[in-house]
Amino acid sequence: MMHATVGIWILSAVICVGTGHHHIGHGNDPANQETTLNGSANSVSLVTSANKEFAYRLYRKLAAHADSEGKNIFFSPVSVSVALAALSVGARGETHHQLFSGLGFNNSQLTQTDVDQAFQVLLKNAQSQQDRNEGTAVFVDNRFKPEPEFLGTLKQSYLADGFNVDFSQSNDSADTINKYVNEKTNGKIDKLVETMDPSTVMYILSYIYFKGKWATQFDPELTKEDLFIVDENTKVPVQMMILKHDFDTYHDQIIKTSVLRLRFNSTYSMLLMLPDDMATLENAFSPGHVTKWLKSMNSRTLNIYIPKFSIKTSYKMNDVLTEMGMTDMFGYRANLTGISEGHELVVSKVVHQATLDVDEVGATAAAATGIEIVLKSFSRVPVMKFNRPFMVIIIERNTENILFMGKIINPNI
Ligand SMILES: *[C@@H]1O[C@H](CO)[C@@H](O)[C@H](O)[C@H]1NC(C)=O
Ligand SMILES: *[C@@H]1O[C@H](CO)[C@@H](O)[C@H](O)[C@H]1NC(C)=O
Ligand SMILES: *[C@@H]1O[C@H](CO)[C@@H](O)[C@H](O)[C@H]1NC(C)=O
Ligand SMILES: *[C@@H]1O[C@H](CO)[C@@H](O)[C@H](O)[C@H]1NC(C)=O
Ligand SMILES: *[C@@H]1O[C@H](CO)[C@@H](O)[C@H](O)[C@H]1NC(C)=O
Repeated sequence: MMHATVGIWILSAVICVGTGHHHIGHGNDPANQETTLNGSANSVSLVTSANKEFAYRLYRKLAAHADSEGKNIFFSPVSVSVALAALSVGARGETHHQLFSGLGFNNSQLTQTDVDQAFQVLLKNAQSQQDRNEGTAVFVDNRFKPEPEFLGTLKQSYLADGFNVDFSQSNDSADTINKYVNEKTNGKIDKLVETMDPSTVMYILSYIYFKGKWATQFDPELTKEDLFIVDENTKVPVQMMILKHDFDTYHDQIIKTSVLRLRFNSTYSMLLMLPDDMATLENAFSPGHVTKWLKSMNSRTLNIYIPKFSIKTSYKMNDVLTEMGMTDMFGYRANLTGISEGHELVVSKVVHQATLDVDEVGATAAAATGIEIVLKSFSRVPVMKFNRPFMVIIIERNTENILFMGKIINPNI
């Protein structure tokens, strides 16, 4: 039997620290949001905490796959959650059950409608913030007529942009999607799709773009070449940024990890985690750890050394999601009758790309080399030097929502 395919394209974006102005999203209607919040505040908090747990479970799966290859990891858990939740709108039976529990939603506490309303609140909130742009889109083949309820929910709750395309023109439809993604991520993700499977009938896509400016910026003149210790046998040259300032830090004795908070000039922070042993940190860490670290942090004067880097990651997530229990959507058992009663649909691919650029001020700032005189004066205060593999997450300060998560093994690849 022929199956039409449904591709789920997930992508996410970038941190670049810049001086440019970037206005994103549209204003939030407070009255509207209050109506939505009324009655669903509990759903929002259940979905939010499910999303956090999902971030760590997904990280561990991606790490297990990446470890053998010594690869960096970087992804946006919220982007994956949103796209899969949008798919679950059209899933039924066991396929729906697997998506729901894979995402960490508890059937006896949350209905699909609760989840949809919670994501509406979260996405509207995200769109009202200056340094963050987040949304979804759905691309539908000209000849394919999905259930109107499905599209309606995607547009209303997931704020989806809707497009009709001709997927039989596989290069043109790939271009259309790539152009959309490119624009939404300000050029950071410019080729999500190589070419389309001409049997595609629909793409669901989610994106997130974040651009933060450090509360205290690094002086490019102090940046100098240094070595990053990938492992016992490998050292690679990096441009090391240096800053002496008061920073919030915490040393977790139990998992032997030093944590540094770098604040953005907004409600966002980057947490950098430098473990004695990476596996100990990766196996142990959880939302509870982040809460504990943030609560227990002390401010003190430090010299910090952070490499400047730009990384790109690309994942095909079929295997990882299958291992997380979301199996049926990829095979003959797929029940996506909520998208279309008349067609048998199956998910062919879930892909994710992400980029991260870290520098003193902006993505295009000129590199500068630090001078020794400065370093001498720096040597009088304690040092925290990220010159070996470390982990990183970007969180919203108040909610501790995790926008991005990753591990930097080698800043040069
Ligand atoms: C929402 O608020 C209105 C007015 O305050 C109230 O009548 C209604 O019952 C609330 N809805 C829910 C679902 O709680
Ligand atoms: C999909 O799930 C619904 C609800 O459980 C069920 O009634 C229907 O028979 C299933 N359809 C397919 C094709 O599996
Ligand atoms: C789901 O929620 C119910 C009721 O609150 C609870 O008894 C159950 O343990 C939860 N299931 C999971 C898997 O967390
Ligand atoms: C589509 O693109 C591929 C490679 O980019 C090319 O080889 C192929 O000829 C193109 N097909 C059409 C119909 O333009
Ligand atoms: C953000 O940075 C500007 C200067 O670049 C400063 O005037 C402003 O107070 C900062 N805002 C916050 C919230 O820190």
